[in-house]
Amino acid sequence: MELYIDTANLDQIRQAHGMGVLDGVTTNPTLIAKEGVDYGKRLAEICEVVSGPVSAEVIATTFDEMLAEGKDRATIADNIVVKLPSTVDGLRACKSLSDEGIRTNMTLCFQSLQALMVAKAGAYLVSPFIGRIDDIGEDGMELIVKIRQIYDNYGLPTKILAASIRHPNHLLQCAMVGADVATVPFDVIGKVMNHPLTDSGLERFLADYKKAFG
Ligand code: E4P
Repeated sequence: MELYIDTANLDQIRQAHGMGVLDGVTTNPTLIAKEGVDYGKRLAEICEVVSGPVSAEVIATTFDEMLAEGKDRATIADNIVVKLPSTVDGLRACKSLSDEGIRTNMTLCFQSLQALMVAKAGAYLVSPFIGRIDDIGEDGMELIVKIRQIYDNYGLPTKILAASIRHPNHLLQCAMVGADVATVPFDVIGKVMNHPLTDSGLERFLADYKKAFG
């Protein structure tokens, strides 16, 4: 499974890149607003660090505007993937951009038939939002399972990018049910590598060594 980081924070991106685990980056308007920086400028900075896919979400909501904005974002770097909402206008923009060879990430996917449609329109990635589905008392992981089955039934090449991941167990489940990619907040990477037996084991090794050799 590929691992992306879901942030617009350069320091976090550099750290994750340095760990050797980073295959790509997802951003969104909320994440950029949190950083308080120019979206285009930050995307260019991210693309200098990461050579894998970097998702740039459009602010526009109508077909014509999404198309123009998407084309403009795609000029920033070769690894930019234009992120579009899973709406009817988003579908049309997905089809047009895909036909021009520009990769798209169809975001805000909350049901499996949206995922079928965006795959038919040529999406490179689809982003089902697991955490936000869990937040309303439903099972976000079920959506990943359904999309996996539909894509496998018909050999659809769109990659399932599990998004809105909140904790390591989400990540584990994604890997087990066959998501192609998971995008995680920075803190999830640290949590995954944190185990009390690793810490106590390390402490013991060092104590034993010190006792024997000073
Ligand atoms: C994905 O691309 C989105 O940016 C992100 O995963 C949304 O996560 P949230 O539901 O935690 O905001």
